[in-house]
Amino acid sequence: MKVNTHYGELKDSYLFSTIAHKVSAYSAAHPDKSIIRLGIGDVTLPLCPAVVEAMQAAVAEMGKKETFRGYGPEQGYDFLADAITAYYQERGITIGRSEVFVSDGAKSDLGNILDLFDRDNTVLVPDPVYPVYVDTNVMAGRPIRYMDANAENGFLPLPDETVKADILYLCSPNNPTGAVYSREQLKTWVEYALENDAVILFDAAYEAFVRDPALPRSIFEIEGAKRCAIEFCSFSKTAGFTGTRCGYTIVPQELKRDGMSLNAMWLRRQTTKFNGVPYIVQRGAAAVFTPEGQRQVRENIDYYRENARIIASALRERGAWFTGGENSPYIWLKCPEGTGSWAYFDRLLEEAGVVGTPGEGFGKNGEGYFRLTAFGDRANTEEAVRRIAHL
Ligand code: MLT
Repeated sequence: MKVNTHYGELKDSYLFSTIAHKVSAYSAAHPDKSIIRLGIGDVTLPLCPAVVEAMQAAVAEMGKKETFRGYGPEQGYDFLADAITAYYQERGITIGRSEVFVSDGAKSDLGNILDLFDRDNTVLVPDPVYPVYVDTNVMAGRPIRYMDANAENGFLPLPDETVKADILYLCSPNNPTGAVYSREQLKTWVEYALENDAVILFDAAYEAFVRDPALPRSIFEIEGAKRCAIEFCSFSKTAGFTGTRCGYTIVPQELKRDGMSLNAMWLRRQTTKFNGVPYIVQRGAAAVFTPEGQRQVRENIDYYRENARIIASALRERGAWFTGGENSPYIWLKCPEGTGSWAYFDRLLEEAGVVGTPGEGFGKNGEGYFRLTAFGDRANTEEAVRRIAHL
């Protein structure tokens, strides 16, 4: 018997678990200290009324023999998939019903999608990066190449023609840096992927935060992307589903490698290993796309966008260097006076009672940087800004 020894190559614990443990230990030792959490990007506003009503109605249906449902289609009910295709169509992107796969969230799909790829593929990830892209490939023993994201390139690296990658990860608006690729920049990535026969895994979890029409919200806005990209979306940050769990992944029919359809492979994978998202949750998710649901979730996003603006303007006033905070719920700032990012984490926690995420947790280029989220509540965000400014 042999275990997967690649697990031994991982850091001891997942970044956000490490932070949660540090914060719990600190709170236990200082029970009187008020702590404001702007670390993990978890939402604080409740589900909007349209979602709650739809879920309540679905619960009632599940309680009656005539309307009860057992196993649903693994790839999601038509009522939700059709609402998702309509959401893309409003932006001029045609997605077929068979290209939509409803799941319990982008994180799971970003990890699970790797079932489709051979272990020998070279993976290209930006540094700093959402740790899930790295850890899931380390678990599989796949070789990883890093591309530098830094202040010089605005934390938006572009292809290096000397690097040959097979699988590459892009996230825009970016977690953790809040930077957003332009259409022109994404076009460069699509061209690179097509030339190298690579597949782009595009994480669009934060697309709903983009309000600037000049900026892309989907990789499929780019010509040729359907031949080289898979897109991952989530209701977590858009509609407050971090605890409710629902997302969707678009695998185009045109996407083929080694004579095989990745769409057919993903369908086969999902129908074998996954039994679908609960009917009640899918009804809630579908309500997000009704006119009322869209209005309500937009109000929530506006609230977080205003938090981001408050943090960003306080940093700007003090001459701090940062990216994000606009078209994104994350603010990525340079730590003061060359302080290391874990040192800044400790200092903010101990002296200001504010929790953020140390940039180094996202990769070596994150050293000296720090991430704040705009998902807190307004009063806490304002208080955190005051405390940080004071410090
Ligand atoms: C984050 O804080 O980076 C995210 O909340 C993590 C996630 O979405 O899984």
